[in-house]
Amino acid sequence: MIALAHPPNSGNIVIRASDVWKSYDKGAITVLKGVDFEAVAGQTVALCGPSGCGKSTLLHLIGGLDLADQGSVFVNGIEVNRNRNMVDFLRHEVGFVFQLHNLIADLTLEENCLLPATAAGMDRHVARERLMQLAQRTGLEHRLGHRIQKLSGGERQRTALCRALMNGAKILLADEPTGSLDERTSAAVFDLLLDLARTEGITLLMATHDRGLASTCDRLVEMRDGRIHEC
Ligand SMILES: Nc1ncnc2c1ncn2[C@@H]1O[C@H](COP(=O)(O)OP(=O)(O)OP(=O)(O)O)[C@@H](O)[C@H]1O
Ligand SMILES: [Mg+2]
Repeated sequence: MIALAHPPNSGNIVIRASDVWKSYDKGAITVLKGVDFEAVAGQTVALCGPSGCGKSTLLHLIGGLDLADQGSVFVNGIEVNRNRNMVDFLRHEVGFVFQLHNLIADLTLEENCLLPATAAGMDRHVARERLMQLAQRTGLEHRLGHRIQKLSGGERQRTALCRALMNGAKILLADEPTGSLDERTSAAVFDLLLDLARTEGITLLMATHDRGLASTCDRLVEMRDGRIHEC
């Protein structure tokens, strides 16, 4: 186990990965080699490291999009494994923001954001109110009826942020959420992301190549040789 920068009892641990291993292609490539990682509620954590080191792989394991070969991942105190109700988990407990937003281009901003709320059975009025609140926070109120294909890159990423937060998930996993944007737009979206995370008490784990932006998070960890190192 590596030494953690914060004492174990300094807060409520909401993400815990213990000795996590993950390989691909029937073991031909081992990406994660005993990852130990913890994040406490409300922390913003930047995950850095060279391309191909396993940042997305780790985010996918924590978000239940894939399973570890060995070791365990706990989110909100419950192990992420085959026994967990993954549909419920993905609807209510974690939100994802991807590098290329993964929005449905032919649907409007509003429709994209209401989809996860509808799937989770959220009351329509509550969902609309939540969307209005998020759209105001992200400066998108005037774009609600626009189709995604008509939006700028920054607007799309802000929409993806709204979608990820619609269902009130308290854990946000962001995989290079500003990677496709120019420097200025990237900084603006990043500020918004941090601001939303901090005001809503969200735990943010974000993979990024941008050290400048990463340094404004509460913690910066680095993936090297298949393991996590605290910076
Ligand atoms: N489904 C897969 N099948 C086979 N190999 C994979 C698969 N997914 C990822 N890999 C390999 O695992 C390694 C880690 O990939 P990963 O996407 O986690 O890296 P990353 O740190 O997110 O990189 P980047 O910064 O470029 O996004 C890479 O060598 C990649 O080619
Ligand atoms: Mg990646």
